[in-house]
Amino acid sequence: MVDKSQAFPHAGVIGWPISHSLSPSLHTWWLNEYGINGDFEAFAIEPDNLPAFLEGMRDGHLVGANVTVPHKQAVMAGLDSLTQQARHIGAVNVITVDEGGKLHGSNTDGFGFLENLKAGHSDFDAATGPVAVLGAGGAARAVVSALIDAGAPEIRLLNRTRAKSDTVAADLGGGKSNVQAIDWDGRDAALDGAALLVNTTSLGMTGQAPLQISLDALPTNAVVNDIVYAPLETNLLARAHKRGNVTVDGLGMLLHQARPAFEAFFGVAPKVTDALRQHVLAAVEGKE
Ligand code: ATR
Repeated sequence: MVDKSQAFPHAGVIGWPISHSLSPSLHTWWLNEYGINGDFEAFAIEPDNLPAFLEGMRDGHLVGANVTVPHKQAVMAGLDSLTQQARHIGAVNVITVDEGGKLHGSNTDGFGFLENLKAGHSDFDAATGPVAVLGAGGAARAVVSALIDAGAPEIRLLNRTRAKSDTVAADLGGGKSNVQAIDWDGRDAALDGAALLVNTTSLGMTGQAPLQISLDALPTNAVVNDIVYAPLETNLLARAHKRGNVTVDGLGMLLHQARPAFEAFFGVAPKVTDALRQHVLAAVEGKE
């Protein structure tokens, strides 16, 4: 049985491999900041061991866990309930354990994405105009889902593999025409009239190929967000900034998605501060 009054709550993050994860650095910072007597551990769980790990969580030795690559989809089968948003996105990044040992899955990536945009650009309103989203992986699903909920009038989904963007448009757009898959070759033209451009691909990340896209058609009052945070200023953000666009980097999405998880695990709603950003940024640089 889970004892929510336990004096020393344990939580953690599960992934394979797990050494890249910034979650321990982030949650441990908050534990210290708020003087909470608890801990947050990195668990390296091989895919074959995932079902046994989830079953083991039912005894309540953990108050919950964050979930990262490659388990975000696979954990869903082992949980007792999913939030509507997790079901919609098709992935879980937070598991909580209730007092009866039941496991509940949610997804806070879309929340983190929107909160990061609001923090980086206080006037941000998803309903302002069309949005161009690059990519159709797990991160894109969270971003598109959040944008739909936030009232984006039109979402142009551009992905190298067209079949994947078609699936995301069908799954998340629910047959409505406001989520539209467009060929990757059409990405330059698709920026015409956009109010927001979001890169959710891995292009531009340290060690990956650069993102090749012309920004000529993008209005200079559009907001540009890259969810890549290593490097913090990607080539896309540097070019956008140079032509006058407001830019929002990707580190904040990581920080903000962790807020609801920390609150669920440890009972305190934490704040994203500059000091936290600097702390996590140093951890990013340490892992490069
Ligand atoms: P995540 O969960 O972070 O979204 P993912 O599911 O592996 O990660 O998705 C990676 C995204 O980057 C995909 O949209 C992928 O495009 P494909 O669906 O065509 O694979 C995109 N991506 C990765 N490398 C790319 C490249 N060289 N050119 C274009 N897109 C690329």
